[in-house]
Amino acid sequence: MKKGLKVAVAGAGSGHTPGIVLSLLNHDELDIDEIRLYDIEKERNDDMNIIINFLIKKDNYKISIMSTEDPKEAFEDVDFVFSQIRVGGMKMREMDEKIPLKYGLIGQETCGLGGFSYALRSMNGFLDLVEKIHTYAPDCWILNYTNPETIIAESVRRKYPNLKIINACDMTIGIEDMICKSFDYDRKNWIPVYYGLNHFGFYNSIYDRKLNRDVMPEIIEKIKSEGLYVDDEEESWAKTWTRYKNLLEYFPSNLPNNYLEYYLFSEQIVEQSNKDYTRANEIMDGRLKKIKQTVRKIENNKDLNTIDYESSSHGNYIVDICASIINNKNERFMIIVPNKGAIRNFRDDVVVEIPCYINKNGAEPISLRFDIPDFHKGLMEAQVASEKLLVDAFFENSYQKALEAFTLNQTVPNAKLAKEVLDEFIVVNKGYWPELS
Ligand code: G6P
Ligand code: MN
Repeated sequence: MKKGLKVAVAGAGSGHTPGIVLSLLNHDELDIDEIRLYDIEKERNDDMNIIINFLIKKDNYKISIMSTEDPKEAFEDVDFVFSQIRVGGMKMREMDEKIPLKYGLIGQETCGLGGFSYALRSMNGFLDLVEKIHTYAPDCWILNYTNPETIIAESVRRKYPNLKIINACDMTIGIEDMICKSFDYDRKNWIPVYYGLNHFGFYNSIYDRKLNRDVMPEIIEKIKSEGLYVDDEEESWAKTWTRYKNLLEYFPSNLPNNYLEYYLFSEQIVEQSNKDYTRANEIMDGRLKKIKQTVRKIENNKDLNTIDYESSSHGNYIVDICASIINNKNERFMIIVPNKGAIRNFRDDVVVEIPCYINKNGAEPISLRFDIPDFHKGLMEAQVASEKLLVDAFFENSYQKALEAFTLNQTVPNAKLAKEVLDEFIVVNKGYWPELS
């Protein structure tokens, strides 16, 4: 085991940070010496520093923690950077969600035009972060889960084709956990085959090593007849899991990524959305308030026993990837990588999300060895073309390409609406987006 790892968390002010740090500290195959909390907003970073220090003292972890807004202090000589930055924060997420909804379109963090608005901010922020990391820790691994991930990964593929980066999303694990909880399977026995773009993919099979069979067909039948077992306390996630069944009623041959509902059932979801109170509001009233309340408890030395942060499944996922690199374990994860023939009947010059082995050299994609069906391929081709146009718009400062990307987005029925939303987004994203002309 490599001794004394140094890890930096970029976007450390996020409410996910305690879960990630605890996952890191509880992992028995990682020896962590130092965790550096990096954020561009001092107040958020200071708050998180207080919380993390409390959690560490409480359980007597031997580790050095620091928080900083200075990239040199944050990244110099680190082994890993975990990036979870959210350019523009929840305030801008709220815009991404609410503006399309005003026009009767999907308002979502990573899907539809909200996702595109976020993408044009996020590429800017992420590529800038990569530059900084590269300056101070040219050899480190970047574990990235900055959204929207296919677009971020595509911008990295173009600008830094040889970067030591793993682009990963926890959604497939989220789906699998949900299924296991609902129907009593154990994911540890599973070898899933999945393909697509990020938040836009399909399972082909789920081989269960204990049961010696592909369990996907029976899972589909169970979901169709019983639905998933939904106990999510967060309303928007509860709704998503309840609706998951609908996707299978229409298209019963593969388990889909839940995010496909935004494309395939956009009208119904818009109808069910509250235009004045979206997921961003839910998080500002939940996760973000909880940070402030926790800091107050620690500072006043009050109700400390009610502080309930623990290692999270999101955290474990990233940390398991980290351990698979460091200990050269060749574990399998769904990772976002350049296609280069892995999905043989899909274009090469794109990034896709597929199973990969993770070892000291990074992600080794597993090629699928079957043709993906036309229905999936057609959906993915339109989606990836619109995302690539958006990346073109970003690098070329092209209004025209942005308009094409917005028009081709599959949540958008026509060019006029696409243009209206684009023009409104340009105004609210001033200072975040590149100038488009
Ligand atoms: C999943 C997705 C992430 C997404 C998150 C949203 O984990 O894979 O990409 O950002 O859900 O969660 P939130 O609680 O911020 O709505
Ligand atoms: Mn994701």
